[in-house]
Amino acid sequence: MRVVIQENYENMSRWAAKFIADAINAHKEDRPFVLGLPTGSSPLGVYRCLIAMNRSGEVSFRNVVTFNMDEYVGLPHEHDQSYWYFMHDNFFNHIDIPAENINMLNGMADDPEKECEEYEKRIASYGGIDLFMGGIGVDGHIAFNEPYTSLCSRTGLRTLTTDTKIVNSRFFGNDPSKVPSYALSVGVGTVFDSRCVLVLINGHNKARALAHTVEGGVSQKWTCSALQMHNNAIIACDEAACGELKVDTYRYFLDVESSQRL
Ligand code: GLP
Repeated sequence: MRVVIQENYENMSRWAAKFIADAINAHKEDRPFVLGLPTGSSPLGVYRCLIAMNRSGEVSFRNVVTFNMDEYVGLPHEHDQSYWYFMHDNFFNHIDIPAENINMLNGMADDPEKECEEYEKRIASYGGIDLFMGGIGVDGHIAFNEPYTSLCSRTGLRTLTTDTKIVNSRFFGNDPSKVPSYALSVGVGTVFDSRCVLVLINGHNKARALAHTVEGGVSQKWTCSALQMHNNAIIACDEAACGELKVDTYRYFLDVESSQRL
């Protein structure tokens, strides 16, 4: 696992955006580059950087196919807290990606099980995901894979925990009862089938989750800890998120990154 520690959120976002743009530009195969994407506040800086890089011609999304991680059940596209709305508002509407290359789970599907099965098949039809960018919740959930979700889980229906509803209520007028109780989400297994996983972890409130991801044992209690089993996993974080790491761990990753990856 690589842990790339940056001074602040802006630098973390710039680093991650460059990593993604470089991966897209290095892709020389006939098939499109397949990119997995998250929502939440963590990736907003990356999206802003990628939009700027797209405008300046440093990267194009014409040959990129995207798959988003998750979507609330019961929110239509036009709902301003649906992830469909979020992604179009914050990213897709500002880049050169063809609309038909965008894949998102439909939280309004009549048959959620079928929707999730077809999503997995669609990912497979593109040859799998090249790079999955993710964020994590304060309880270490990746996508909507809450604590105790199987580390082998596939795309499916998830029940949101009270903790997550409280945390996410900041987008729903601070009222946890307005946060949907269910979501469709890719599984931990779906994310970890990707050829590369890049997870953004920033801010003091993620310090405990970062420590569990990097130093803890692999456990379904912290679904993000499954990253330890992936052979091409990268965490991009800021200093604020490092507060619960052991000094040795912190120094180790700074040392490795500065000496070998300039
Ligand atoms: C939600 C999303 C996750 C996201 C998490 C963290 O629960 N389903 O995919 O990683 O929020 O969000 P934030 O980046 O705002 O802390």
